[in-house]
Amino acid sequence: SDEPTISITIVGASGDLAKKKIFPALFALFYENCLPEHFTIFGYSRSKMTDEELRNSISGTLTCRVDSRDNCGDKMEEFLRRCFYHPGQYGSDENFSELDEKLREKEAVPQAILSLHPPNIFVDVVRCASLFASSPTGWTRVIVEKPFGRDSKSSGELTRSLKQYLSEDQIFRIDHYLGKELVENLSVLRFSNLVFEPLWSRQYIRNVQLIFSEDFGTEGRGGYFDSYGIIRDIMQNHLLQILALFAMEPPVSLDAEDIRNEKVKVLRSMKNLQLDDVVVGQYKGHSKGGRAYPAYIDDPTVPKNSLTPTFAAAALFIDNARWDGVPFLMKAGKALHSRRSFGTDLDKATNELVIRVQPDEAIYLKVNNKIPGLTMRLDSSRLNLLYSAKRLREAPPRRDRGERRLFIRSDELDAAWALFTPLLKELEEKKIAPELYPYGSRGPVGAHYLAAKYGVRWGDISSEN
Ligand code: BG6
Repeated sequence: SDEPTISITIVGASGDLAKKKIFPALFALFYENCLPEHFTIFGYSRSKMTDEELRNSISGTLTCRVDSRDNCGDKMEEFLRRCFYHPGQYGSDENFSELDEKLREKEAVPQAILSLHPPNIFVDVVRCASLFASSPTGWTRVIVEKPFGRDSKSSGELTRSLKQYLSEDQIFRIDHYLGKELVENLSVLRFSNLVFEPLWSRQYIRNVQLIFSEDFGTEGRGGYFDSYGIIRDIMQNHLLQILALFAMEPPVSLDAEDIRNEKVKVLRSMKNLQLDDVVVGQYKGHSKGGRAYPAYIDDPTVPKNSLTPTFAAAALFIDNARWDGVPFLMKAGKALHSRRSFGTDLDKATNELVIRVQPDEAIYLKVNNKIPGLTMRLDSSRLNLLYSAKRLREAPPRRDRGERRLFIRSDELDAAWALFTPLLKELEEKKIAPELYPYGSRGPVGAHYLAAKYGVRWGDISSEN
């Protein structure tokens, strides 16, 4: 038929991200009939595996939507039949030529998307893929997953190297937080509801908090994590992106370029980050209820003397008329007591707006109410904007054909690195020792003092009620 054929090569197919996110996401698209009729998915990585072994390794991670499980099994079978695997080295011309041959056998030529993520290898892969396994007649897109470098310098080098083989519009730097339903909803909440926008400034907002909290450690990812740390892993990208969307000036339209223009501006307006506005932590072993939880440095791939932070908190400031003097408090940590991300605070003493990205997506405003009875006592209750689980389930999966809104433009990336690079350098040069916190705790007390310095208490964005 005339339907285009699409081939998707996932480089790093044996890794965590491929299994946890990419294959399930592709299956979700397939399940909703959002992939073209003819498509082929190739996994590529160094591990020796057969097609069958790849299929087995991913089949357990595919899920159907709860409300429509009818033909789930058949759909999975059909999807898995279109998944193949080719083992190869990331910098090998020969291995990529073999891959190209296999793609041709499947007639998966005209279009090609290449999605890849293991850090250190982007450039090798892009070189080999564009020289030996790219589509001469169709189009090639490369989706790269962060980390995009480790600082301004390496990030700039990475972009320059990629541009030897690709143009900027072929490169998609994904930040998967931008695809989360509530993060996408943020601009709509702000700009399509008259009640919020007039309040969205220093006049009414005393502080903004961005919180990322995971209740598990780096389990199995220590090797990657140790050379990046939580600031590069979460703050410089996921949290900073949310901050930019939250704080930017109203864009000309909700189109990708207009939004990205505003994000860049606000990122460039941020004040330099001071070391004494930052707290770093690392989790230590701990036992609770007869169970022992490991320390970060118990991971065999992590050096025993590692100073890599698994937790960080920071106070950031934006130097513009809207936000002058308002602390934006960020907190990100692994092995904490719960798994949550993002809260924002419209002043604890009066009202607090919470946007909980996960789990249990929610948007609510804490309002003060009189406690029924004869006395005038107040209590806070939640005005729930019911971002209900039901609506989310009904939401169609993303089928963005190059929706650039969800990806990071290179000038945004530069601005994000410009903010964090001097701090990271200082932390590393001064060998700042992270404050240890027990696995499963609320993190180092230093974070509490940092907030207190600005007269703020970390908000509670838990999901009770
Ligand atoms: C990734 C980080 O970008 O995001 C991981 O590298 C983190 O360390 C993950 O666990 C969290 O993503 P999500 O979608 O599970 O919140």
